[in-house]
Amino acid sequence: MKVIKVKNYEELSATASEVIAELMKEKNDAILGLATGSTPIGLYKNLIKKYENKEISFQNIRSYNLDEYCELPREHKESYYTFMHRNLFDHVDMKEENINIPSSVGSDLNKLAKEYNDKLNSVKVDLQVLGIGGNGHIGFNEPGTSFDQETFIVELAEKTRQDNARFFNSIDEVPHHAITMGIKNIMNAKQILLLASGAGKQEAVKNLIEGPITEKFPASVLKKHGNVIVIIDEEAGKLLTK
Ligand code: F6R
Repeated sequence: MKVIKVKNYEELSATASEVIAELMKEKNDAILGLATGSTPIGLYKNLIKKYENKEISFQNIRSYNLDEYCELPREHKESYYTFMHRNLFDHVDMKEENINIPSSVGSDLNKLAKEYNDKLNSVKVDLQVLGIGGNGHIGFNEPGTSFDQETFIVELAEKTRQDNARFFNSIDEVPHHAITMGIKNIMNAKQILLLASGAGKQEAVKNLIEGPITEKFPASVLKKHGNVIVIIDEEAGKLLTK
């Protein structure tokens, strides 16, 4: 695991965008695994700038998102489908048919999870972007999830619902379930880029970098992957002793 420590969120976003832009220049039909949440918003802003400056194009890029809330229609302002369009896709030349976000509305959620898993198994993601939950989750793989888990319907941990309540009017509106890539799907990517910023991620970053590999802390699995870049800012790295 290569750890890059930068000063602040702006630098973190710029550094992450360089890694992705380099890949997109080398391979114009790269397959990107994408994340939502607060952390990658700055990265996406930088990618939009690079697209506007004609440095990169999304014309042949395909994307697979990590997860989607259940119990929210696609058009809901907090669905991850809407999030991705608002923060990236609406501003670049990405083709709608190349965008893959788990579909979570239907009567048979397990079937939807299986369909997304089959899609994932038919490709090799070149680079997977990850944030990290305060409890160590990646995607919505909450503590205790098996490292062999593939795409599934998860009941969100209370901590995750509380963390995400800031996007909703109240915690009651936060969905209880999500469809998420499993840890096995995430580990299948050729390269992984994990971003962590701010004081809220200090414990998680310490566990990730200095703690043991355990299913109690899902992100620790990344130590078993041979090609991971972790970018943290000073605030997020404050508890590190090494
Ligand atoms: C998002 C996702 C989550 C977030 C994590 C951190 O698609 O799967 O694992 O990356 O909850 O969220 P933020 O960036 O909002 O702190």
